[in-house]
Amino acid sequence: MKGRVKVTIVGAGNVGASCAQRIAEKGYADVVLLDIIEGLPQGKALDIQQSANIIGFNSKITGTNNYETTAKSDVVIITSGVARKPGMSRDDLLITNQKIVSEVTRNIAKYSPNCVIIIATNPVDAMVYLALHESKFPRRRVLGLSGVLDGARLATFIAEELKVSVEDISPCVIGEHGKSMVVIPRLTTVKGTPITQLLPADKIAKLIDRTVNGGAEIVALLKTGSAFYAPSAALVEMAESVIKNKKRVLICAARVDGEYGIRDTVLGMPVKLSKNGIEQMVKLELTTEEKTALANSAKAVQELIQVMKLK
Ligand code: APR
Repeated sequence: MKGRVKVTIVGAGNVGASCAQRIAEKGYADVVLLDIIEGLPQGKALDIQQSANIIGFNSKITGTNNYETTAKSDVVIITSGVARKPGMSRDDLLITNQKIVSEVTRNIAKYSPNCVIIIATNPVDAMVYLALHESKFPRRRVLGLSGVLDGARLATFIAEELKVSVEDISPCVIGEHGKSMVVIPRLTTVKGTPITQLLPADKIAKLIDRTVNGGAEIVALLKTGSAFYAPSAALVEMAESVIKNKKRVLICAARVDGEYGIRDTVLGMPVKLSKNGIEQMVKLELTTEEKTALANSAKAVQELIQVMKLK
């Protein structure tokens, strides 16, 4: 990437504005914040910009309602869409968010044909599939937020239980970012020791259950929207691996085409993220039981994909 890195964030709501703030404060990229509501992205951008003297960063933040301003972005984070209300599942958002993500993706692909797209909008696995379809980008350049967030939630609960630093926990949550997500305790470690050796099975089952319902727990508390602090932290970790060509191995929603015998769908998988996007999908050695759970997860996502009736 030449010159200043340019990151566009579509959607200036809770997740989008929080991403804009985090990236601005890192200082390594200029940020364009786009929304359909007039004044909202401009106001939030100006507010974040005015924190620069206090926080100490040199990123430029621009708010806009116009895709021309987003032209030639290196990374685009899509957060536009409706969020959950209490009692809703991520799947309930499908049709509304399909329309929004279709339109947004077409515009992004037109103005930034070489960017890497990172999607937050739910149901994220279906939205990644949709964005690949609409952008016609290669599979390496469209990914979504899933395992980094679900894993961070699991790590939080394990740290509380074991009274160890959350930083030393390496979680493994793959599959759908939804009810059928596959938490793998065998591959979730505290500096190399699997949690299966540190906690009884019934305790692990409770932690898994809380992780699967981690987003819903927050929706029930907030009542007016869904989580955004941890989601934005996860999105920025993913974006940073692309921006800085770090080659982090992060669990992201990515197109699966033959891996584990699963085809033509999107699932959370460990992927190596470099400046070109997904450089490689890292293969895990899964047990028969884990493979079955992953196949079920694939089925759940495929059902959503079918509902979208993409042509
Ligand atoms: N183009 C641009 N922005 C749009 C469009 C569109 N077509 N449609 C909606 N938006 C904007 C809204 O105006 C709003 O500002 O998207 C923003 C969404 O913000 P919030 O309602 O605060 O939702 P948020 O909590 O940020 O969640 C956004 O991310 O985590 C997921 O499930 C969540 O799908 C949801 C998305």
